[in-house]
Amino acid sequence: MTIMVVGGGGREHAIIKKLKENPAVERIYCLPGNGGIAADAECVPIGSTDIPAIVDFAKKTGIDYAVVAQDDPLVMGCVDELNKIGVPCFGPDKKAAIIEGSKVFSKNFMKKHGIPTAEYEVFEDADRALEYVKSCKIPTVVKADGPALGKGALVCMSREEAVSAVKEIMEDKKFGASGDKIVVEEFMTGPEVTVLSFTDGETVVPMVSSTDHKRAHDNDEGLNTGGMGTVAPSPYYTKEVEKEALERIILPTVKAMKAEGRPFKGCLYFGLMITPEGPKVVEYNCRFGDPETQVVLPLLKSDLLDIMLATTNGRLKDVPVEFSDGAACCVIMASDGYPEKYEKGFEITIPDDLKDSVYVAGAKLEDEKLLTSGGRVLGVVGRGESLPEAVKAAYEKVGRIGFGNAYYRRDIGKKALSALKER
Ligand code: AMP
Ligand code: GLY
Repeated sequence: MTIMVVGGGGREHAIIKKLKENPAVERIYCLPGNGGIAADAECVPIGSTDIPAIVDFAKKTGIDYAVVAQDDPLVMGCVDELNKIGVPCFGPDKKAAIIEGSKVFSKNFMKKHGIPTAEYEVFEDADRALEYVKSCKIPTVVKADGPALGKGALVCMSREEAVSAVKEIMEDKKFGASGDKIVVEEFMTGPEVTVLSFTDGETVVPMVSSTDHKRAHDNDEGLNTGGMGTVAPSPYYTKEVEKEALERIILPTVKAMKAEGRPFKGCLYFGLMITPEGPKVVEYNCRFGDPETQVVLPLLKSDLLDIMLATTNGRLKDVPVEFSDGAACCVIMASDGYPEKYEKGFEITIPDDLKDSVYVAGAKLEDEKLLTSGGRVLGVVGRGESLPEAVKAAYEKVGRIGFGNAYYRRDIGKKALSALKER
């Protein structure tokens, strides 16, 4: 079987490594991939949003199955276009991907179907939004409706911040047309948990829970990033929380998407906040999380390709989806300065015995040398029977990997470990 994966970061690397465990997989192409992924797949220099070129490549190459892993191509309808030429895909069509593509859609959807989330108002007019934030409860959260590279949610701790957030998004068009509409929502508190789930539109199978670390520096200080590390399972996702999330959020979401004529097939990402009133949805994503995937897939015992094909064919209830009882921790090694300015082009050395534990996000190959080429360079995964063991294993590996200008958080999993002790 010849497979094409659309995307080019650590998440895609984790997906590719897992797919390769199935002996039916003969070839994997990654569009565009990166210098690290090149060790596991044939990277093709086609951008992940160049849908005509992706479709053309799939046609010429005889792709049997495509995994569209990134948000932008999914929201733009990459799956619809590939289906038109007869290529089956893992991932939602455009109609279903709107659950991530539009915050206004997802908030109205949750309200309509009684799915717990923060209270909110929608604005299409900057003056009315400014009027509202002059008297609304503070803190508040201002969100651009459309995609904004994960930076479209502004948590405002003061009224001044809320006013400038509305101005930046609606008047200065910081995120372009994505800010034509905004959502202003209630500020929630509590630990955040990610639950990725496989669904074929009817059956839904949640994966092991995980927790991301979004801030750049230790103790959750510094700027928001694409994610500096993850652990799985999340100790905040207790049996009790899991039951409530399943009954009030996960099952109703999949059922309601089907009822709306938007059956969701692929990986549906539930970003939850465990508030004092129970779990509530912070965001939905229409794809695997990055770097959550890097800790979730290593714990998957069942075959990933079989599960993916079953989500596409509507047979998810017939395939086993089993996770190991152990834990995993991923530490992201970044270029110092990320998410702002940073230097790149430094050689990366990874000992051979660690190659299976490393998922590369931002590196290029030059004269057979792997050089840093991005902010987040790679994720290093440690596993263990328990979370403390997994964290220890990850940091031991990090200590053996080197490149110029490397930076990483020293406290990935620390809060989760203290939450474990409290229980
Ligand atoms: P989003 O892009 O919607 O996932 O938001 C990004 C981050 O902003 C989340 O992971 C939360 O940490 C924070 N956030 C978003 N919405 C809220 C909210 N209503 N209350 C508190 N924090 C929020
Ligand atoms: N880790 C957050 C995301 O993938 O959106």
